[in-house]
Amino acid sequence: MSEIFASAPGKFVILGEHAVVYGKPAIALAINRRFYLSVRRDDEFRINGEIVNIRANPHLMHIAGMNDMIPVSIHMDSRIPTGSGLGSSAALSVAFSAAMRALNGKSVSEEEIAKEAFEAEYFSQGGGSPMDTSASAHGRGIAVNMQERDTDKLWDISKNSHSWNISGIDAPPMKFVVGYTGIRAATGPLVEKVRKYKDSNRFAADIIDEIGQITKEGMTALGSNDVTKLGELMTEDHKLLSILGVSSNELNKLVSASLPYSYGAKLTGAGGGGSMVALTDQPDKVCDAIRSRGGMPFAVKTGADGVRVSGKNE
Ligand code: MEV
Repeated sequence: MSEIFASAPGKFVILGEHAVVYGKPAIALAINRRFYLSVRRDDEFRINGEIVNIRANPHLMHIAGMNDMIPVSIHMDSRIPTGSGLGSSAALSVAFSAAMRALNGKSVSEEEIAKEAFEAEYFSQGGGSPMDTSASAHGRGIAVNMQERDTDKLWDISKNSHSWNISGIDAPPMKFVVGYTGIRAATGPLVEKVRKYKDSNRFAADIIDEIGQITKEGMTALGSNDVTKLGELMTEDHKLLSILGVSSNELNKLVSASLPYSYGAKLTGAGGGGSMVALTDQPDKVCDAIRSRGGMPFAVKTGADGVRVSGKNE
């Protein structure tokens, strides 16, 4: 019987989260923590051996719906903590889309998987951008809405009134430490919080524009391998995200503890809990500082491969 295996990486955002939802630029890097799954046809939907109501999981339900609702038995194993801001749901959507498309004999191009997974994310979160799913599908690094730069154009995605062009980037080798607060935070309500703030207050719209501006500067710093400048911009971005209301005491504590040993630090992903990231030459000291404030440090490796799919469809 045919079984398809797929895996997809998590990611962190160097600059631009939340603002990217409104078509501003962003930069995200894939990391060496992946979501693994396998699927095989079955008479009912099962997850890790248990019969499930697939409708209870909006990501899986949406992707199954785009693939003829073929019932499958899914085995999952994730190395990306859920709700950690490291793209666990995007990696799940990308891996499941790849596996279901392969099972259905459809194309498993990064672009088609990124687009299908984005639809599932958008549907489940009630909004958002294609950054996380594109980063997970392509791997390595992506820049969003930086087409005027010398980047490797991948694909365009639009939804409602926003459009995003996605390019691949190869970031120079840099050391990042991620600090997880241990607090799970769902992305949808945080995206909604920012949307309400933006719709009711011109000041929030200005902050979003400013995040877009510093992200463009960050792209220049990344291109010239200027870690000092990139770090300053990350710390500045954290302040702007805090003004938007998506930081938390725990995130601020981990950012402050990391700064003495870092070029810069900021929350990464949706915020609210989840994780922060520091750019540093002293990863051990940053890990100790994060641990001493109750956080869980991960020394992450960037440059991870994007979606992988293998197995037979007989
Ligand atoms: C979450 O990783 C990134 C956000 O910008 C949401 C999104 O882009 O969909 C907060």
